Amino acid sequence: MTKVLLTGGAGFIGSHTCLVLLETGHQLVVIDDFSNGSAEALRRVAELAGLGPWRQASAEHWTAAEPGGGSLTLLRGDVRSPRDLDRAFAITGGGISAVLHFAGLKAVGESMTQPLRYWDVNVTGTVQLLEAMGRHACQTLVFSSSATLYGTTDRVPIPETAPLQPINPYGYTKAAVERLLTDVATSDPGWRIALLRYFNPVGAHPSGRIGEDPNGLPNNLFPFLCQVAGGRRQHLEVFGGDWPTPDGTGVRDYLHVMDLAEGHGRALDVLQAEPPQMLTLNLGSGHGYSVLELVRSFETTNGLTLPYAVVERRPGDSAVSVADPREAERRMGWRTRRSLADICRDGWAWQSANPQGYGSNEGQPTGALIGAQQVS
Ligand code: UFG
Repeated sequence: MTKVLLTGGAGFIGSHTCLVLLETGHQLVVIDDFSNGSAEALRRVAELAGLGPWRQASAEHWTAAEPGGGSLTLLRGDVRSPRDLDRAFAITGGGISAVLHFAGLKAVGESMTQPLRYWDVNVTGTVQLLEAMGRHACQTLVFSSSATLYGTTDRVPIPETAPLQPINPYGYTKAAVERLLTDVATSDPGWRIALLRYFNPVGAHPSGRIGEDPNGLPNNLFPFLCQVAGGRRQHLEVFGGDWPTPDGTGVRDYLHVMDLAEGHGRALDVLQAEPPQMLTLNLGSGHGYSVLELVRSFETTNGLTLPYAVVERRPGDSAVSVADPREAERRMGWRTRRSLADICRDGWAWQSANPQGYGSNEGQPTGALIGAQQVS
């Protein structure tokens, strides 16, 4: 049984990945500062995974793991803090063999007005994490990269070998971290690193218990559309009806967050089973859908009508972004299994059951440590 550290594991993709890893018997430690994640998400993950009671403990008092079972430990902390990282590596007695690095800021628009924050959290945070991994003799890392690296190319589909040409500070920080990790891997052949370039992760766990809970006004289409469906927003603005696409609206490669979470499990398995190496993989479905196709699928799947208005294009957008996902299938036997209808059904199950997301800060820890153990 492997012990894994997830930075940012209380966020959207991290929480779904926790569930997948718990279901395969891993022991998990999560460090998250709750800037865009919540302890409530992991309380629900623990419940879905059939762990024992989710209970708060002090930093000094931790309930030992049930022999032979998975476990989930959550530590509030900042990846830029060596002290917090050291604590995360040590908190369950050490022995962390791999890190999944989700922690980071991800709003394109915000990155243009607050570039320093993006460089600090995304790049400095990764430097600190690598230093901490060095101190704790851990050399296996799965990094949350992004298709944003490919910039506004209209090449369809996009292979991993396409030129990297990010166009905003968020994208530059992802490119910088990929470069940094490549340099680190070159400096020491013991590293096992996966750079996973996500396309458009959407949807939710089919239980409707966990899902995406963006802070404030959603930047992205799918969570916005869910909030329109739930009546929290009046209508959807479709950014541009004059793109060179079949219906004039932007085309993207939407993948179900559970497929993405499983992709992380596969990447971890491959890194741990094979000799040290660096993997660079697109995670996408290989299928593109336009904004209006997504709207129609959501309406048909869920029996709803979504009011929308076509408005000006959003600066920085491209017409089409679709993955060539064949390398991920070849290297780790992974491909998306869930359809656009699954995405729409599960996304709506989450939104309709949780109209305010995870709600207020209820359930947020007041102390430092929260944990749950699997009942075996
Ligand atoms: N869109 C709308 N209305 C909205 C929001 C989006 O019409 O309210 C359109 C966009 O113009 C685009 C499509 O919906 O055509 C998807 O937009 P998203 O904002 O959901 O996603 P992006 O493809 O722009 O970007 C996302 C992430 C990035 C990541 C990128 C990778 O936000 O961080 O996918 O491809 F880098």
